[in-house]
Amino acid sequence: MDRALILLLLCGVAVWLSGSASAQRDHQRKSGSGEPHPIKHEEEQKTQYWVARAQETLHAKLAETQAVHTNVAKNVIMFLGDGMSVHTVTATRNLLGDSAEQVYFEQFPYTGLSKTYCVNRQVADSACTATAYLGGVKGNYGTIGINANVPRYSCDGAGKVENQVEGIAQWAQEAGKDAGLVTTARVTHASPAGVYAHIADRNWENDWEVTKRSCDPEQAPDIARQLVEGRVGKALKVVLGGGRKQFINTTVNDEEGYPGYRTDGRHLIKEWLADKRASNVSANYVWSRKGLSLVDLDKTEYLLGLFANCHLPYNGDRARNRSQLADPSLSELTEAAIRVLQRNEKGFFLFVEGARIDMAHHDTYARRALEDTAEFAQAVQKAREMTSEEDTLIVVTADHAHTMSINGYPYRDQEIFGLTDDDTDDELPYTILSYANGPGYKSAYSQAQGRVHLTEKLTDKTDFQYPTLVPLDVESHGGDDVAVYASGPFAQFFSGNYEQTNIAAMMGRAAGIGPYANVQP
Ligand SMILES: *[C@@H]1O[C@H](CO)[C@@H](O)[C@H](O)[C@H]1NC(C)=O
Ligand SMILES: *[C@@H]1O[C@H](CO)[C@@H](O)[C@H](O)[C@H]1NC(C)=O
Ligand SMILES: *[C@@H]1O[C@H](CO)[C@@H](O)[C@H](O)[C@H]1NC(C)=O
Ligand SMILES: [Zn+2]
Repeated sequence: MDRALILLLLCGVAVWLSGSASAQRDHQRKSGSGEPHPIKHEEEQKTQYWVARAQETLHAKLAETQAVHTNVAKNVIMFLGDGMSVHTVTATRNLLGDSAEQVYFEQFPYTGLSKTYCVNRQVADSACTATAYLGGVKGNYGTIGINANVPRYSCDGAGKVENQVEGIAQWAQEAGKDAGLVTTARVTHASPAGVYAHIADRNWENDWEVTKRSCDPEQAPDIARQLVEGRVGKALKVVLGGGRKQFINTTVNDEEGYPGYRTDGRHLIKEWLADKRASNVSANYVWSRKGLSLVDLDKTEYLLGLFANCHLPYNGDRARNRSQLADPSLSELTEAAIRVLQRNEKGFFLFVEGARIDMAHHDTYARRALEDTAEFAQAVQKAREMTSEEDTLIVVTADHAHTMSINGYPYRDQEIFGLTDDDTDDELPYTILSYANGPGYKSAYSQAQGRVHLTEKLTDKTDFQYPTLVPLDVESHGGDDVAVYASGPFAQFFSGNYEQTNIAAMMGRAAGIGPYANVQP
């Protein structure tokens, strides 16, 4: 058989299948609500609607080409949606209402794509990517703030100055600006560690983890120590997130009664405070949302907030669970950080991470991933509203993608967390959202029945783990490019397709700081 004939045959099958699918769809529509889906989006049925939208966009583009964004960026705020793939952003539109919805930062004037691979892996992690987008150099998977000359777990590689990658927080500090970070993960987790640490393994967040790998914690100081003692870390004006356990000994309990993980007896929170007091600067440590609300942010020079022993809760869970409202949201933390940093007349660099988008995806909790993306977008909006487009560059991106995809042909008004009733070979419905691999395999397949007959009663549950093809305890990252959205001075730099490392360089050039400050055409 020649190739053309096979294609024809396949098309024939496809046509036949789609005919049968629509018959079944009609049947299910009727059995669902008793009548066909009502027509929504009535305006979209008119040609004029789309013409007007296109004209609107063209007007905005034409105005944009005349606009000059060549002011020096006094402030740079980088928002990192950890694991926030393009699919994640697309699906979040539906959570916010409808496919036509815009996630806040999608309205930024410039969008580009960044290539996320690391020196030794096609699919990256949050460690090597942090080195890339904050320092402008790609490294090895699992390593932070060092070049690829250092293999992961090397005891002595990260301490050598020639291997260390200096990042934009340092460039800002050297230019007299302030720097800070906000995250919903432990402040010592891979992405925020990229702001201040140089380390050969992302798990070395406390001294015990370093000794477990038979390295000497004096030769390879852990990430929490680098935050409190390191040149960049100790000069950060704002550090807000979770992770108290990395700062205190196993024999010590934190404010909420959870023990530490350190074994060197050090209490790094007390050391941080003592260090600041010794330099006669105003410094505050807080551990709860209430504590944060009591701080006079306009008089605080240094602010350390550790709101959880480990990570902060998923935002959706905060909203569902009153007891977790005791924790601040990402937008509240972002607002507090900007208020402290805004007092420096020379400006600031702030890194804000929506960390738990990634963690939700790893558990194939698609619902939580999208809820955290929505909160992340609120934080971006808060930052944009508190600052001026004239002097503050905001860059929003992700470090790497995930394996979630959006499938089937769901009706426009179907909830994206539900099922699609397209014709399947086994006549069972399937979820609109699914993953290539991960723990959701268990919700989708059982030994006894094969593919599980899913119902919306199941997918409505917060803890429902979206189906996967390959069983894995932890869903893996994806290797696709991620989007970059920019607003403010030199936002135009961020269009196109480029290496993730270029983000650091472009932010530095926009702000006139660091090694790229004076690059000319
Ligand atoms: C810290 O913890 C280690 C091991 O868990 C313990 O041996 C040590 O005595 C503790 N240090 C202090 C000062 O309590
Ligand atoms: C510490 O700061 C206070 C208030 O700013 C000032 O009055 C005092 O002289 C300072 N002390 C030292 C030792 O610098
Ligand atoms: C609410 O939060 C508390 C404290 O984190 C937790 O123990 C509990 O399981 C949560 N309940 C729900 C329904 O998420
Ligand atoms: Zn991850």
